[in-house]
Amino acid sequence: MALHALIPAAGVGARVAAGTQGAPAKQYLALAGHCMLWHAIRCLSHPAIETVFVVLSPEDVVFSQYDWRAFAGRLEPLYCGGATRRDSVYNGLVAAMAGIQTDDWILVHDAARPCLPAQSLQTLIDTCLQDPVGGLLALPCADTVKRIASESAQGVRSLHTESRASLWLAQTPQMFRAGLLAQALRLANAEVTDEASAIEQMGLQPRLVQGSRRNLKVTYPEDVAMANALLEMQ
Ligand code: CTP
Ligand code: MG
Repeated sequence: MALHALIPAAGVGARVAAGTQGAPAKQYLALAGHCMLWHAIRCLSHPAIETVFVVLSPEDVVFSQYDWRAFAGRLEPLYCGGATRRDSVYNGLVAAMAGIQTDDWILVHDAARPCLPAQSLQTLIDTCLQDPVGGLLALPCADTVKRIASESAQGVRSLHTESRASLWLAQTPQMFRAGLLAQALRLANAEVTDEASAIEQMGLQPRLVQGSRRNLKVTYPEDVAMANALLEMQ
């Protein structure tokens, strides 16, 4: 079986753009000389990954304005993004499956993680290829975790401290067999925010593969400067 990647890139980036008028969608923000989506695709330039499917909004008029020649022959844009991340991944996967096998592996990676280290990707692939379920990059929770009381006039207040001993934070890529993932996402409820939670809802236990703090997700305006600094350092 082969390996392919799928990047959902049909979001608008509302949180990163809060208060910024006329800003491009998050995946097209400029970082270290290229747009964020370009970096996310470059992170997946691994000899074992045959195709990188990029799921775009049907209304996207920006993608075609960029130069994608660095990825010629491996990049396949799909204009079938949906209202939620789950919808975009599911629609893209259904479209991609016209040309791939159900047993092939799919690595789903957010356009919003443009700094994925090559070593993390390699470890994920090596581990998941041996795994009956598949898995994802994740990190053990390092911070002290607070459960908040219901919000009052006195602001947000801590009710108690949760044990972090059994908590990990999910990242991407998340690597599963295409057929299993399509089935899981089709059945998943609307709350799923990643592929692994859809797999969990089927009663399966995805493998957690320790990733890197460098694989940060650009969500808020401050994250843009951090991602830029990491990419400039490379
Ligand atoms: N995404 C998508 N389709 C959607 C929503 C999100 O393909 N309907 C993609 C985003 O483009 C991004 C990834 O899913 O690459 C992770 O989503 P997130 O970081 O939440 O990005 P946005 O949804 O664009 O940002 P926000 O939630 O702040 O609006
Ligand atoms: Mg979102």
